[in-house]
Amino acid sequence: MNSHRPPNRSPRAIRSFVLRQGRLTRGQQRAFEQYWPQLGIDYRAQPLDLQALFGNAHPVYLEIGFGNGESLAAMARDNPHNNYIGIEVHGPGVGHLLMKLEEYDCSNVRVCRHDAVEVLRDMIPDRALAGVFLFFPDPWHKKRHHKRRIVQAEFLDLLAKKIRPGGVFHAATDWEDYAKHMLATLNASPDFHNTSSGGEFVPRPDYRPLTKFEQRGLRLGHGVWDLIFERE
Ligand SMILES: C[S@@+](CC[C@H](N)C(=O)[O-])C[C@H]1O[C@@H](n2cnc3c(N)ncnc32)[C@H](O)[C@@H]1O
Repeated sequence: MNSHRPPNRSPRAIRSFVLRQGRLTRGQQRAFEQYWPQLGIDYRAQPLDLQALFGNAHPVYLEIGFGNGESLAAMARDNPHNNYIGIEVHGPGVGHLLMKLEEYDCSNVRVCRHDAVEVLRDMIPDRALAGVFLFFPDPWHKKRHHKRRIVQAEFLDLLAKKIRPGGVFHAATDWEDYAKHMLATLNASPDFHNTSSGGEFVPRPDYRPLTKFEQRGLRLGHGVWDLIFERE
């Protein structure tokens, strides 16, 4: 089990995250010990058999950077006929999600602690996903850090490979400049079309619970922009 180790880092890759240190609470530690063997996915450069992983052929949605996992756990509890793969690099967040899955008695979520870009590239079979969720990715406010934003043309090419035709990419952010960047980058992709009738943003759909990061932003008066694009 490598759940407690930081994700592999190759020296030159540009990452969308900085690995924050953080100790696991006792509850998170216990959840790791108890549930990682059943619900954890250790990174290896080999495609997963998703039907074997979940024991059924339900649609699979993947969330990148679920934070503390509260909203992923709620979504999974409310949609038992979907499967979910949650990916997050921050250990305490992973532990928190495992505790929530226990509380909700959810069996339709698998959890990976690794760089989501590498997991998508190496472990997800092509056209396997019904959707990818990216809720409140690190905005990297400063211009010199914009290259660290996860939404880039190359990232969309990777998503286009992994999302099946008719599947969705749903992103949300509370940073207007990043929202505009996402919109422009998605509009430039030949592989996706906007589901918004106005060609821009959509209201938050009922299936997306408010996230922890979002609630903090809302308290500070931030706006929220949701984008839902469909794979051609
Ligand atoms: C701003 S937080 C938002 C968390 C959560 N979605 C929310 O709304 O509360 C962004 C999260 O994405 C994670 N993250 C960023 N890049 C990632 C990557 N490439 N793979 C996995 N997790 C990533 C970070 O560790 C962080 O927890």
